Amino acid sequence: MFGLRNSGLRCSTGEKKKRNMSSKYLWLSLLFLIVYFLYTRLKEAGVLNVPFIYHYQLSGYTGDPRVFSATELKVYTNKKNGLYLSILGLVFDVTRGERQYGPGKSYHAFTGRDASLAFITGEFESSKLTDDVSSLSPRQIKALDDWLQFYHTNYIYKGKLHGRYYHEDGSPTAEFYVVQEKLLLAKKEKALEEKQDKMFPLCNVEWNRETGTVFWCTEKSGGIDRDWVGVPRKLFETTNAQSSFRCACVKLDSKEYKENKARLRDYDGCEKYATRCVLKTNEI
Ligand code: HEM
Repeated sequence: MFGLRNSGLRCSTGEKKKRNMSSKYLWLSLLFLIVYFLYTRLKEAGVLNVPFIYHYQLSGYTGDPRVFSATELKVYTNKKNGLYLSILGLVFDVTRGERQYGPGKSYHAFTGRDASLAFITGEFESSKLTDDVSSLSPRQIKALDDWLQFYHTNYIYKGKLHGRYYHEDGSPTAEFYVVQEKLLLAKKEKALEEKQDKMFPLCNVEWNRETGTVFWCTEKSGGIDRDWVGVPRKLFETTNAQSSFRCACVKLDSKEYKENKARLRDYDGCEKYATRCVLKTNEI
């Protein structure tokens, strides 16, 4: 009995094994077909050509970030050596963007050096190319930092540049921290501005020759969704009435209104509680 059962068992196990083997081969063939299909597609698209692989093997995933000297960075200004640029002391391989950075192209001046200032000034003459950004305001430093993030996202990070922002061992210099402080200040300013835009949303404004300037508040004006409308007021940058101002929708019974009263003025010719005002001049 046992013998028979066992042999029967052996027989069905063998069949199962055979079935498993053939389904394995089926899956493997399917996988092979998928890989082959993808390979031919990528090849057609030129993604698998030799320079691409060479580029990524040599400069993409191998080799740790290093500290470049200014002289070392200088050689990366052509396709043969590669196109590298530095921004705030961080070096990126931008060879992929040859159309913009290659010799004779619009942004070639950025390669082989750190020309951080030009990212903001737009002055590309060689005498004006410098990594010194001490003349920039916190807001401009923020714009420069946005460029830095752009390179992190779109290109290959290669390392640091020994100079204004990094020491030879890659540690940050005092000037690095000055930039970071300005960046922090810019972020605080922006947060404050956003808070103010919520407290005093922009008015809607329309102008035409016959009517003049019309401005009005709604529950959505200035892109701020809220459960109050507010009345148009001039909101000055400072308590000085000579400073610049913009039209703000103000909630008269709010704590924010009381706290900022010194910076707010009525529009001449506009009713105190009117949510819509018409000015005959171009004043906004
Ligand atoms: C402060 C001034 C400026 C700076 C620092 C600047 C910088 C740059 C940089 C670095 C790139 C390459 C981005 C990448 O890697 O993809 C770029 C691309 C480009 N810029 Fe500017 N730019 C400035 C002003 C302008 C102006 C005024 C125009 C137009 C009149 C312009 C038009 C373009 C165009 C069309 C591209 C894309 C080029 C392409 O894809 O081939 N830029 N810019």
